[in-house]
Amino acid sequence: MGELHIIDHPLVQHKISLLRDKNTGTKEFRELVSEIAMFICYEATRDLPLKEIEMETPLAVAKTKIISGRKLAFIPILRAGLGMIDGVTTLVPAAKIGHIGIFRDPNSKVPVKYYSKMPEDIAERDAIIVDPMLATGNSAVAAITELKSLGVKHIKFMCIICSPQGVEAIRTAHPDVEIYTGVMDKGLNEDHYIIPGVGDAGDRIFGTK
Ligand code: URA
Repeated sequence: MGELHIIDHPLVQHKISLLRDKNTGTKEFRELVSEIAMFICYEATRDLPLKEIEMETPLAVAKTKIISGRKLAFIPILRAGLGMIDGVTTLVPAAKIGHIGIFRDPNSKVPVKYYSKMPEDIAERDAIIVDPMLATGNSAVAAITELKSLGVKHIKFMCIICSPQGVEAIRTAHPDVEIYTGVMDKGLNEDHYIIPGVGDAGDRIFGTK
């Protein structure tokens, strides 16, 4: 079963509180999403493989470690996931970025993929999907399914706030996927927004409402 990692670091918790504030404006909201994404990414990359090398310092030869092996791709779910890309690429500048767009068909309620553009070598990369809000989990499950269909073997899902329903949806459909989040909220309202949450993360990042 993919583990649920709640990043309860005081800086993450403090910044999530500021994110929740309905008086936080677009500029600050965007900066906070990026900063929180960076902190959560720090934990989500904790198991990156290392190899030992020798490096000459001005004084001696040091046996030291560098990241080696599998490469990373970040996959933002459009559009709110884009808000996390600055933060995660600050930590892993060499990572490639794939994009996936999913909407919910208003009649069937089924998630529909309307856009997918991945790095050519995506099957050889470890993928971290990013979306600030894991609500019903439908988009997350569809994004993971898409990546698996392209041959991706190691997938993690990173969000800032999750609901119990979203976590359950991923665990049921894709039990191998580890989830990284800042906090788990109570649940969803009838419009599938996380309660208490932050409202519509996309609108708050892009200032569309
Ligand atoms: N998407 C959002 O932006 N907010 C929610 O609460 C749920 C999904």
